[in-house]
Amino acid sequence: MNFLLLSGSFHSRSRSLVIVDTIRPFLSGHDVLVPQLDRLPFYCEDLNQNKPPVVQDFLAQVTAADAIICCTPEYNHSIPAVLKNAIDWASRPAFASPLKGKPVSFVTQAVSAVGGARAQAHLKLVLDSTLSEIHPCHEMMITGIDTLTDGKSPITERKVLERLERHILDFIRFAQRRAAVSQQAP
Ligand SMILES: Cc1cc2nc3c(=O)[nH]c(=O)nc-3n(C[C@H](O)[C@H](O)[C@H](O)COP(=O)(O)O)c2cc1C
Repeated sequence: MNFLLLSGSFHSRSRSLVIVDTIRPFLSGHDVLVPQLDRLPFYCEDLNQNKPPVVQDFLAQVTAADAIICCTPEYNHSIPAVLKNAIDWASRPAFASPLKGKPVSFVTQAVSAVGGARAQAHLKLVLDSTLSEIHPCHEMMITGIDTLTDGKSPITERKVLERLERHILDFIRFAQRRAAVSQQAP
C-alpha cells in the first residue's frame, strides 16, 4: 500500500519529523512518502484554477495514497497552519476531493501533558468535513515529547515505541479493510 505521512512541522529540530522516522519501520513492505508541505503556497482560489507544479505534485501524491498518517504538534490549541493548508489544498472539490474515503490516522505530540489532544480533535473535525475515513482507535498522543527526543535523536523509550507500533499496525489493518471494501463496491 501507499502511505502518505503528513508532518505538521519542518524545522531543523522537528519532533514531528522524528516521529515520522520512528514509524517508518512499522510500515516496512509499504511505500511511504513524506511531502514537503512547507513548500506549498497558501491555498488561494486563483491558484486553484491554475495550480503550480508543487501543488499538482502534492495532489497527485494524495490521490495515489491508499492512506494518510498525520504526525503533528499542537499549535495554539489547534493544528499548525502548514498542515491545515495542505489539507485545504487536498480538499477540493468539496465532498469529491482526493481525501474522500481516504483512511486517515493521527499521531500528535506535545511537551505538555495534553499531548496535542486538541490538535487531534481538530484534525478529526477538519477531516470529517472532507469525508475521509477516520481511523477508529485508541488515540495516539505523546506527552512530554521533550524528554523523548531533542528533535534529532531517535525515540528509544520502549513503551512509546510499543504504542506507536500498535497504533500503526492497527491502522494498516484498518486501511486494508477499507481498500477491500472499496474494491468490492460496484
Ligand atoms: C506557535 C506555537 C504554538 C504552540 N502551542 C501549543 C499548544 O497550544 N499546546 C501545546 O501543548 N504545545 C504548544 N506548542 C508547543 C509545541 O506543540 C511543541 O513544542 C511541539 O513538541 C513542537 O513540535 P515540532 O518539533 O514538531 O515542531 C506550541 C508551539 C508553537 C511554536
